[in-house]
Order: sequence, then C-alpha cells, then structure tokens
Amino acid sequence: MTQRATEPCPSSCYTPASVKSRCFNLCLLGFGNVNRALVELLCSKRAEMREHHGIDWRITGIASRRLGWLVKPDGFDAAALNIEGLAGEKVSAQAVENLAGWLNTAQPNVLFEATSLNVETGEPAISRIRAALNHGAHAITANKGPIVHAYRDLRDLAALLGRCFLFESTVMDGAPVFSLFRESLPAVNVSRITGILNSTTNIVLTGMEQGLGFEQSLRKAQDLGIAETDPSYDIDGWDATMKLTALVNVILDVPLRPQQVQREGIRALTGDKVRRARADGQPYKLVCRAERHGDEVHACVKPEQVPLTDPLGLVSGTSSIVRFETDVLPGFTLTEENPGVETTAYGMLSDFIHAAKVSDHWTSGTRS
Ligand SMILES: NC(=O)c1ccc[n+]([C@@H]2O[C@H](COP(=O)([O-])OP(=O)(O)OC[C@H]3O[C@@H](n4cnc5c(N)ncnc54)[C@H](OP(=O)(O)O)[C@@H]3O)[C@@H](O)[C@H]2O)c1
Repeated sequence: MTQRATEPCPSSCYTPASVKSRCFNLCLLGFGNVNRALVELLCSKRAEMREHHGIDWRITGIASRRLGWLVKPDGFDAAALNIEGLAGEKVSAQAVENLAGWLNTAQPNVLFEATSLNVETGEPAISRIRAALNHGAHAITANKGPIVHAYRDLRDLAALLGRCFLFESTVMDGAPVFSLFRESLPAVNVSRITGILNSTTNIVLTGMEQGLGFEQSLRKAQDLGIAETDPSYDIDGWDATMKLTALVNVILDVPLRPQQVQREGIRALTGDKVRRARADGQPYKLVCRAERHGDEVHACVKPEQVPLTDPLGLVSGTSSIVRFETDVLPGFTLTEENPGVETTAYGMLSDFIHAAKVSDHWTSGTRS
C-alpha cells in the first residue's frame, strides 16, 4: 500500500489560523453527469470546506472509456472542467496506459467512482475500487454494482487498510441513509424496510392516472428525458431491486443478491386499473419490501396499492421514500423530494468530508 502525505496545496490554498487545511489528491473515475456535478459542487464549496473542515483538494486524475487514463499531478484546473467536459484540460494532461499507471502517477487520496452500472457483476468498478484501496486511497462510489455484488469484501478490505469505502449516493441520491445508520443509530436492529425508490415508474404511473396508457405514458417520460431509451431496467423493477439489495446488504448486514428478490415491474398494469386505484384513494406504486426472518431476509419489489393516508401513497415524480422498522424506533421514515444530480454529487462530497475526518483520526493516532 502506498502511503502519501496530504501536503499543503500550492499557493492557491488558504489556511486560516484556526483550522489547519490539508490537501487531498482526488481522482475521478467516470466523467459523466455525476462526477461533473461533483466537480461543480466541490468548486462552489471550496472555501467552506477549507474554513470549516480543513479540507483542500486538487484533481490529479480523470478517466473514462473515451477519455482514457488522464493525469495532472499538480492538479487539473477544476474551474475549466465543466458540464461540457474537459475543455482545454485534456490537451495538457498526461495520458497513461492503465489503472496502475494512473494510480501511481495521480497518487489519489480519494477515488470517486461514478461509472455506469453493470447489473450482473458490478465489474469493472469492483476491481478498480479494490485497486484504489490497495493503493492507499479512500474509495467513494455512486455506483450500486459494488454494493450489491461486493459490499462485504470491499468493506472488509477498506477496514483492513484503514481506509474508507463509502457509497451514500447509491440509494436516494445524497439523502443520508447509510451515514444515518453508521453515525447516528448505533446498535439498532432493523426488522423491516419499505420504500419507493424508482422515479421512472412513479412518473409513468402518474401519466397513466392522468389518462394515458402504459406505452403512451412511457413514451412521454422518454420524450422528457426522464426514462431511458431502453426503459426495462426501471420498468421491470431492476433499479428498485438493486437499491433494495444495497439497503439490505449494508443496513441489515445480510448478504442478498438481486436474483433473490421477488421482482415484478409495472408492465402488466393497465390505464383503467391505475385510474380506478387512484379514484379509490389507493394509487399504485412500485413498492420495495424487505423483512428479516432470523438470519434470512425476504425481499420483494412489486406494484401495490397504497392508501393516500400512508406517506408512501403521496410519493410521486423523482421523489423517493424509505421507512425503517427497528427494535427501538418502531418506525421512522426518510423522504427525499425532487433530487437532482447535484443531490447525488452532494452524497459523494459528504462521504469525502467523512473520509477526511477518518484520515485525521488515523494520522493523529486517536483511532483505537
Ligand atoms: N445520475 C444520477 O443522478 C445518479 C444517481 C445515483 C446514482 N447514479 C450512479 O452513478 C453512476 C454514474 O452515473 P452518471 O449519471 O454520471 O452516468 P453517465 O453520465 O452515463 O456517465 C458514466 C461515466 O462512466 C464512464 N464509464 C462507463 N463505463 C466505464 C468503464 N468501463 N470504464 C471507464 N469509464 C466508464 C463513462 O465514460 P464514457 O462517457 O467515456 O463512455 C462516463 O464518463 C452510475 O452507476 C449511476 O447508476 C447516478
């Protein structure tokens, strides 16, 4: 494992007398919506992070399928990276051959992994996160694949190496689901999880309630850029299944695979049925449920009628909701209203601040 000091950044860094700022080398794997939004958020919160958290940063590596493995050991000009891409920064960056060369040259303290989901295996994200941890970096991902397929391995490896493996943005974007349990609910036993976690199905069902048929409503959602060209991942319940599996793996600490979740999408619902349900005050929602039975978990994702008197019945659009039943808090519910990609980026940024604090513990020797 390579150890590297988080040295002060070049002259641009401001270090107030009260908080000693440390500079972290950041590497971005994947440079799509999420990591670009992250760069924007990091830039907009730069002063706040320095002054209140003693954190400074520079981006030393960016990689994607099309970009290849790009490095700037002294840091990319983050302000020049924008929603359109790398702009002139690509020209002046060094291109290396592969992941090993990238890690060796960019020397990340933190890897932000935000590549596309591989539903079947979670690869190659899992191997890359493993390599970054072994190299001495904290690893933060927005990608559900590693949590669904390799949560325990990556968690244990990170613990062994004294690094963080964090993934707040994988479920409910930036809403604090995993950190809530990690930080604020120690020794709580969760017996049941219920949620509505997929926005495309919410939006298609709303369109059907307003008079459209299934295909028409789906086409409208596609035209609005909400549903994918191939919408089956959402419509057939895979996205909700991956999110539920991630929650079970982490919060219930029971290894569950997506194939073990009983899954039914919304294709079989007709417009008439959906409108009748809404008129009866019990609209259809794609509901996720997981229930602990001893050492096992029974999990399902399927359309259900939910009364409007239940907070789950009121969730629509891109909003999502999850309810936990526990031994000490009989029921508590988190609702996230209308998140955007900046919300997802915030989940990664909050993971970064947590990882930086853990680094402080390690370097000051306070970790027991
Ligand atoms: N968008 C959201 O609000 C949101 C919310 C929660 C979680 N997530 C998760 O966050 C991740 C990123 O989402 P996104 O919206 O940013 O996706 P995106 O815009 O499609 O970007 C994906 C990025 O990953 C890169 N990539 C894909 N496969 C790769 C590979 N094998 N090797 C190297 N790079 C690879 C792509 O590179 P090229 O462009 O060069 O092909 C692209 O830069 C996904 O796993 C997604 O499920 C997204």
